Amino acid sequence: MATTISNTDSRTIRNVRVKANFERTAFMFMRSSGIILVILAVGHVMLQLIFNNVHYLSVEFVAEQWSSWGWKVYDMALLVFALTHGINGFRNVLEDYIHNRGAMKVINILLVIFLVVSIVWAGYAIASADPAAMDAAALGQ
Ligand code: HEM
Repeated sequence: MATTISNTDSRTIRNVRVKANFERTAFMFMRSSGIILVILAVGHVMLQLIFNNVHYLSVEFVAEQWSSWGWKVYDMALLVFALTHGINGFRNVLEDYIHNRGAMKVINILLVIFLVVSIVWAGYAIASADPAAMDAAALGQ
């Protein structure tokens, strides 16, 4: 699939066909995940730190949230989008400075491993979190 971009400037009109490839998809992902993160990340900060109040943020508060699967899914979505967006953005920054293709290939493989392990590990931790056990641990029982 190729996209046609029109330059509507009155002096120059040219059509550029951008081929679908990994970099284009990654670029589109940065833009769309940015919109999703406005809801997920800003919502997270507002709820946890402002409406709840940073002084009352505790293990018990998170345990109460995670007694609902809705909040677990919200937090897992935040994990997936923030981490993927952040790691891909980090890759973009590194590619601006590291011009050795072999070194970038090794770094990209390490970043993918880090991304997948982190999402699976943290996602499993959220999914399997037991609110009653969290409350007991917070009370030192
Ligand atoms: C409200 C939340 C966020 C929004 C709206 C947002 C939006 C964006 C946008 C639009 C870009 C530029 C994409 C492009 O044009 O190439 C970007 C790049 C980037 N973002 Fe985010 N982002 C958010 C949160 C985050 C978070 C939580 C992280 C880190 C975990 C992060 C790390 C980065 C990095 C490293 C880049 C690449 C910068 C570069 O290429 O120089 N962003 N973000």
